[in-house]
Amino acid sequence: MQKIIRSLRLLLLLLVVVASATSSAATDNPTIHDILRANGLPGGLVPKSTYISSFSLDTETGLLTVNLTQPCYARYADTSLAYFDNYIAGNLSFGELNRVQGLEQEELFVWLPVKGIIEEKGSGVILFDIGLAHKRLSRSLFEDPPDCHAPDALIQGNFGRRGGPQEER
Ligand SMILES: *[C@@H]1O[C@H](CO)[C@@H](O)[C@H](O)[C@H]1NC(C)=O
Ligand SMILES: *[C@@H]1O[C@H](CO)[C@@H](O)[C@H](O)[C@H]1NC(C)=O
Repeated sequence: MQKIIRSLRLLLLLLVVVASATSSAATDNPTIHDILRANGLPGGLVPKSTYISSFSLDTETGLLTVNLTQPCYARYADTSLAYFDNYIAGNLSFGELNRVQGLEQEELFVWLPVKGIIEEKGSGVILFDIGLAHKRLSRSLFEDPPDCHAPDALIQGNFGRRGGPQEER
């Protein structure tokens, strides 16, 4: 009896080891959101994985590139609206994404390109450099990757206010 219990315990231990090995295999294939989080930034700075067609990170230069399935708009919980081009790039370092391309934010009905995104250490605040100003927003707004809506959804009025970067250019 003792022996059976011991071998059952061994089997159980083995199962636990196998289970944790498979779950760590999943992190061998990180998502773009995992990469942002590993670099001290919230994962929701880019839309959900279904809208991402590919991404790459050059660990030598920090160059991060993200290709989206299409240009799209996302609304965050504070109702701020962001526009993502189908190609986004930036220079990723810990807690910062600099020289950002392909991302715009609406500010008082004007679309402004986001140039840099910086996590203010320990303050729970994300600072967006929008050229004319720095906008400080709660980090918690950006933890969950948002849905992203094609421009025609916005024009048809299915998605909040009309308008977009095209009208400003
Ligand atoms: C990113 O920034 C680092 C440090 O400022 C710099 O050495 C590097 O060349 C930059 N990489 C790109 C792709 O701009
Ligand atoms: C991502 O988009 C850029 C710019 O449009 C393009 O040059 C590049 O080939 C795309 N990468 C992939 C993997 O589709």
